[in-house]
Amino acid sequence: MPNLVPEPYRIKAVEAIRLPIRADREAILAHAAYNVFLIKSEDVYIDLLTDSGTSAMSDAQWAGLMVGDEAYACCRNYYNLKGTISEVFRFRYFLPTHQGRAAEKVLFAAVVKPGDYVPSNTHFDTTHANIEAVGGHAVNLPLAEGLVPTSRHPFKGNMDVERLQRFVEDVGAQRIPLAMLTITNNSGGGQPVSLANVRAVKEVLSQYGIPLFIDACRYAENVYFIKQREEGYADKTTLEIAHEVFSYADGCTMSAKKDGLVNIGGFLAMNDECLYQRASQLLILWEGFVTYGGLASRDLEAMARGLWEALDEKYLQHRVAQVGYLAERLLERGVPIVEPPGGHAVYLDARRFLPHIPQAQFPGQALVAHVYLEGGIRAVEVGSVMFARKDETTGEWKYPELELVRLAIPRRVYTQSHLDYVADVIIELYHKREQIHGMRCTYGLPVLRHFTARFEFV
Ligand SMILES: Cc1ncc(COP(=O)(O)O)c(C=O)c1O
Repeated sequence: MPNLVPEPYRIKAVEAIRLPIRADREAILAHAAYNVFLIKSEDVYIDLLTDSGTSAMSDAQWAGLMVGDEAYACCRNYYNLKGTISEVFRFRYFLPTHQGRAAEKVLFAAVVKPGDYVPSNTHFDTTHANIEAVGGHAVNLPLAEGLVPTSRHPFKGNMDVERLQRFVEDVGAQRIPLAMLTITNNSGGGQPVSLANVRAVKEVLSQYGIPLFIDACRYAENVYFIKQREEGYADKTTLEIAHEVFSYADGCTMSAKKDGLVNIGGFLAMNDECLYQRASQLLILWEGFVTYGGLASRDLEAMARGLWEALDEKYLQHRVAQVGYLAERLLERGVPIVEPPGGHAVYLDARRFLPHIPQAQFPGQALVAHVYLEGGIRAVEVGSVMFARKDETTGEWKYPELELVRLAIPRRVYTQSHLDYVADVIIELYHKREQIHGMRCTYGLPVLRHFTARFEFV
């Protein structure tokens, strides 16, 4: 039996959850057109749809809500957040936003022109979509090992630095207004990026004067992996490692709904004053004044406090161990997952789980549907539903390399027995995998289709 570090907190408030009976789960899923995004959360027993905005806040954060100074401009909580961000991330400027994609929208609108390219280890779906929305091309340059679910490379989230160099030479630096690193690499299995890789990416970009921005949603988990796995960092504090990571960047986008331990919030940070001025104008247009950015002041306070809590080593140790525990329980029964597990989720490898279902029939989505039917557990497909693209000239679909199902673990929400239940359900499903059929999509928007798509079994 794998070891789980005990929770470094105790539970002060509880929320009831309920498992609908099998017949009800069947009706609920059919009513939602087999898209679990469309299921009412009260009909979900264990909700592993996302780790985003689903954290349990601490007593200190809840107390912080009461000191929210709800002034329109220059509230005290803005300055508290500013203090935290300058101590942790050390960028000269920051703008609060209501969540990560708002920071992306402001950043890309300020710097990306039609026809530009933005390379990354792997862009998250909203990042990808926000770059394309302003006419740019989002380009993924992951390490080859990052696309092999069984490879045990310790930093599978790394960018392929040689490919980056070739890419810059090919398209020309003047068409690359910035490059990005997503840490940890969510779409690539929640895998961490090493500090050596951050440094090497920065070195390449510096030769051409291209700024580096970090998609920092899960930077604290990434920092913990650096401490665990990268030589020379075991004795450094998480804050010291964070300082080094961000010292190589020119700015970052942050969805604080992850490693800010809040239910809503984010920010955009940068060193360049001109960019700050341009972004401020867009922020005022889309999000709100520069000292609140679409948030209530109380939300700014919760974020200021949560950012510190997410860097706590005891918290991170438990967090990473919890994900590892679920992964080990599945692995010991032969369930194919992305190895080693990342920081926020266990990713089932739907291709190996359901080898009889071709990608055109969405094996990941079929698995998501059955995970709900079997145990009332909500997971999310990170595969062809999310990333397949239709070639407009040939009309052919291009499918992604990885066909994954993400079991994202909300922070400080579920206990070991919940994870044992999840493991038991998935193991049971794995035994019956031949009975699972593929799916066809009956409705899907061209952009971010996974949120609203509809399906039926083939
Ligand atoms: C890596 C990454 N970047 C950006 C985002 C977007 O953040 P938000 O959902 O707060 O808009 C997410 C959200 O899941 C993410 O995982």
